[in-house]
Amino acid sequence: MEIHKKKLFNELGDRDWGKRRIIGGNTTNLIELNNVKYDWATRMYRTMMNNFWIPEEVPLAQDAKDYKNLSSAERQSYDKIISFLIFLDSLQTTNLPNINDFITAPEVNLCITVQTFQEAVHSQSYSYILDSVCSADVRDQIYNQWREDQHLLKRNRFITDLYERFIEQPTEENLLRTIMANYILEGIYFYSGFSFFYCLGRQGKMLGTVSVIKYIQRDELTHLSLFQGIMREVRKENPHLFTPQFTEELRGMMRTAVEHEISWGQYITQNQIEGLSDEIIELYIKYLSNQRMQKLGFEVLYPEVTEHPMKWVESFSNMNGIKTDFFEQKVTTYSKSANLNWDEL
Ligand SMILES: [Fe+2]
Ligand SMILES: [Fe+2]
Repeated sequence: MEIHKKKLFNELGDRDWGKRRIIGGNTTNLIELNNVKYDWATRMYRTMMNNFWIPEEVPLAQDAKDYKNLSSAERQSYDKIISFLIFLDSLQTTNLPNINDFITAPEVNLCITVQTFQEAVHSQSYSYILDSVCSADVRDQIYNQWREDQHLLKRNRFITDLYERFIEQPTEENLLRTIMANYILEGIYFYSGFSFFYCLGRQGKMLGTVSVIKYIQRDELTHLSLFQGIMREVRKENPHLFTPQFTEELRGMMRTAVEHEISWGQYITQNQIEGLSDEIIELYIKYLSNQRMQKLGFEVLYPEVTEHPMKWVESFSNMNGIKTDFFEQKVTTYSKSANLNWDEL
C-alpha cells in the first residue's frame, strides 16, 4: 500500500501518545520529550548526544609516517576500505531524511536526526584522515574509487538501488525494505573494514586511524540499535505486513548482503593481512549476521556458525567502554565521552 510523507503542519494531529505509531500515525510533529510513547528512543537520543566527538582532536601525525611503511597489500586495503566508508557515510547522510519523512513518532525522528548529523561527522573524519595521511593525488584516487573500482561500484549500486526503490515507490513494503537495508548497512557492511583497522592496530600501526574508527563504531552501534528498535516496533504495530513470504524476503536481503560483504572482505584483503584470513572473514560475517537476525527475532541464516572467530576484535573495540547492545544496557551507564574545551572552538 502506498504511504504518504507526514504533513508538515498538522493541527489535527494526535497528541495522545497512546495513538502514536512508528509509521502511518497522525503526528503533530511536536517534539515533547515529556510525553513519549517509545521510551527507548529518548534514552537512545541521550546516549547518542553523549557520544559527541570531534575528529580533529585525534592526532594523526604518526599515521602519516606509518602509512608510508605499510605493505602494498595493507595500503591497498586501507585505501579501498576508506573509499567504501566514505561512500556509505555520505549515502547515509543524504538518505536518512528520506526515511525520517515517513516516521510518525517525534522521539524517533529526533534520533534519526542525530544519526544523520553523526554520519556527516563520519564523512568529516575521512576528509581529515585523507588530508593528514596521504598525498593529494592518493586522496583524489581514493575519492574516485567508489565508481572506478568495479567491485565497489557493484556493491554501492546494490545498496543505493534498495534506497531508491522506496523513493520512487513509497509503499509500506518498500519502507520496510529500506529499514532492513539500513539495519544491514549499520550491522554488516562496516564490519570487514573495521576489523581490518583493528588488525593494523593490534600490530601497533595507524593507531590514530584506529581511534577514529573506534569513535565511528561507537556511533554505528547506536544506529544499529535504533533501527533494531524501529523494526521491532513496526513489526509489533503492523503484523499483517510480515507475511511468511515477506519475512523470507527480508532474510534473503540479509543473505545477499552477507555474501557481498564476505566477497568484499576477501577482495580487499587478498588473504594477505595477518589475522584476517578468507576463512575468518567468512565466519565473522556469518556470525555477525546471526546476531543481527536474532535481535530482530528472525530465524538465523547460518545456524552452524555459533562461535565468534575473532573474539579479540570485541575487546579491541570495547577499549573505550563501548556498549555493544543498547537494549541490554542500563539507563545510567552512559557517561560523557570527552571533556571538551568550548573556549578553544
Ligand atoms: Fe557512519
Ligand atoms: Fe551509521
